[in-house]
Amino acid sequence: MLSKRSLVGIRLSFQTLAVLFFMLIGASAYAVDPAVIDSDEAIAVGKTVFNANCKTCHKLDQKYIGPALRGSTVRNSAEWVKRWIKNSGEVIASGDSYAVALFKEYNNSIMPAYTFLSDAELDGLLSYIEYGDKVDPAAAAAVAGGADGSTGAGGGIPSEYLTVILGVLVLVLILILVVLGLIISVLTKYINKQDLPEDEKEFVSQKFEFAKVFKSDGFIIVVTALVIALVAKTAIDGLYSVGVQQGYAPAQPIAFSHALHAGQYEVACQYCHTGVEIGKSANIPSANICMNCHTHIQNVGGKEGISPEIAKIYAAVDNNQPIEWVRVHNLPDLAYFNHAQHVAVGGIECQTCHGPIQEMEVVGQHTSLTMGWCIDCHRQTEVATQGNAYYDKLVQLHSDSKDALKVKDIGGLECAKCHY
Ligand code: HEC
Ligand code: HEC
Ligand code: HEC
Ligand code: HEC
Ligand code: HEC
Ligand code: HEC
Repeated sequence: MLSKRSLVGIRLSFQTLAVLFFMLIGASAYAVDPAVIDSDEAIAVGKTVFNANCKTCHKLDQKYIGPALRGSTVRNSAEWVKRWIKNSGEVIASGDSYAVALFKEYNNSIMPAYTFLSDAELDGLLSYIEYGDKVDPAAAAAVAGGADGSTGAGGGIPSEYLTVILGVLVLVLILILVVLGLIISVLTKYINKQDLPEDEKEFVSQKFEFAKVFKSDGFIIVVTALVIALVAKTAIDGLYSVGVQQGYAPAQPIAFSHALHAGQYEVACQYCHTGVEIGKSANIPSANICMNCHTHIQNVGGKEGISPEIAKIYAAVDNNQPIEWVRVHNLPDLAYFNHAQHVAVGGIECQTCHGPIQEMEVVGQHTSLTMGWCIDCHRQTEVATQGNAYYDKLVQLHSDSKDALKVKDIGGLECAKCHY
């Protein structure tokens, strides 16, 4: 017999089970905090902020340096997550049990504080984290297929077809030669069978003599002229390239890759080359800038231990010794070049002068950096006057001229501008 009391007990535990059951269902149905906006605009805002600030440590659906972010507003409220992003240290210090446990789980790694993010950016971040970049296999396949198709249609004849066509042409030529040779031998045999006078017979069976051609004056003159021309061209090219270091790509003390940092992870050039918009020199980053990320990132692709290349950064910081990077670009002391003038005022992309740095494993000098190179660009390039009040007067004065205002018109060809 069951007492009334145990009946109550059973009912209670049944209730708790039911509540637990529905909580589980709720969680697996992925109850994102309703405060998170699911709109394309918000997602786009969030993606930009994410790529600039968070991508080095987080992925949406995979654990990386930090946890996978999708589901953050399931695990906690949107308000909580915003507080965390703004200053995770504060949330941990407040004794919040989830925060403390997470911090421990990640070996007390400190996530940077993002107090500078606006409310709109924070909202966007949450939208992107929960609703952005969902992988839909069908759509992904369609995109991949579309990309393949478009290269086939838009890129002219692909190079592998060209090779095949050339091969076929060469084969056809060889076949024609063989057939011609056969025809000649058949004809010679046929003519020799006829009753011909002796001198005509000799003519038919005469051989072509190479030796005679080699000894002829015409041949010797042509070959000598060609050799002299070649030597002269090499010598002149050699003289022009004295002091020109185009293509120079020295090995560096640490195997630092722009393809990885500036290409794959899209770290902005200015993050490391801090002087490029404000001064003459672009600056090579100190080891401290590397440490902003490499305090956390100790190896590639989630491998255990410290990568030997990254260990060199730690050694430099510990011993207070600068990393001895080998200089690639170097104008002679007589010339003056200013980055801020070209990048910030002139609006010229780094790649115009330095080439596709974001694809280089090892940096090399892409352009010649000769005086002719500077002058050519100053002759051709229009000054970016729009939105620059400094130029308003000049533009007015220049407006009678048919030509656009080029750098040469503002003194870009004057010796003293580039020479001390
Ligand atoms: C330098 C690496 C790093 C960067 C950059 C970083 N995080 Fe984190 N993040 C972490 C680590 C590590 C944790 C785990 C907790 C800890 O150790 O503090 C974490 C935890 C989180 C959590 C909690 C996740 C959970 O499971 O509830 C959120 C949300 C978060 N980060 C969002 C962001 C956002 C948004 C940005 C960019 C604005 C960002 N993080 C940038 C390293 C980073
Ligand atoms: C994470 C930091 C970092 C980022 C981001 C970065 N660089 Fe660099 N860059 C370096 C370091 C370190 C060196 C020196 C070692 C070397 O030459 O590889 C360097 C060297 C260079 C050099 C050659 C300097 C010389 O000695 O003449 C050029 C040019 C350059 N970077 C351009 C760029 C451009 C353009 C971008 C953006 C597309 C970029 N960098 C992004 C760190 C960075
Ligand atoms: C904005 C963050 C960031 C900065 C700043 C940064 N790195 Fe990195 N670095 C990364 C990331 C992310 C990886 C790749 C990790 C992975 O693939 O798992 C990486 C990988 C590397 C590797 C590859 C290690 C190996 O074993 O192949 C080297 C070397 C490296 N970085 C050197 C540097 C140096 C030197 C600097 C400073 C001039 C620097 N990094 C600055 C984020 C950064
Ligand atoms: C108009 C051409 C031009 C543009 C645009 C340009 N550079 Fe340069 N860069 C040069 C020249 C020339 C040098 C060699 C300067 C010297 O030796 O005094 C140089 C040198 C460098 C160096 C070596 C260190 C130094 O300051 O001398 C770095 C790093 C660099 N550039 C990065 C950049 C980055 C990053 C950008 C884009 C934000 C950029 N450059 C845009 C022409 C350019
Ligand atoms: C890709 C084109 C390009 C190249 C290459 C280039 N420049 Fe320039 N340069 C410009 C532009 C555009 C301006 C005008 C910027 C402005 O609005 O002030 C400029 C302006 C200048 C000025 C200031 C001129 C003035 O009257 O104020 C100097 C000095 C200069 N460049 C030096 C050099 C040197 C030295 C080199 C070669 C090492 C060089 N530039 C290569 C595009 C270039
Ligand atoms: C737009 C910038 C610019 C202007 C304007 C310019 N130069 Fe140059 N000049 C350079 C650069 C950069 C070099 C270094 C080239 C190199 O190393 O190959 C150079 C090199 C030279 C050299 C060679 C020095 C040597 O040791 O090889 C002489 C001479 C020279 N310039 C004279 C002049 C004279 C004269 C004028 C005026 C008519 C002038 N330059 C105008 C940028 C300029």
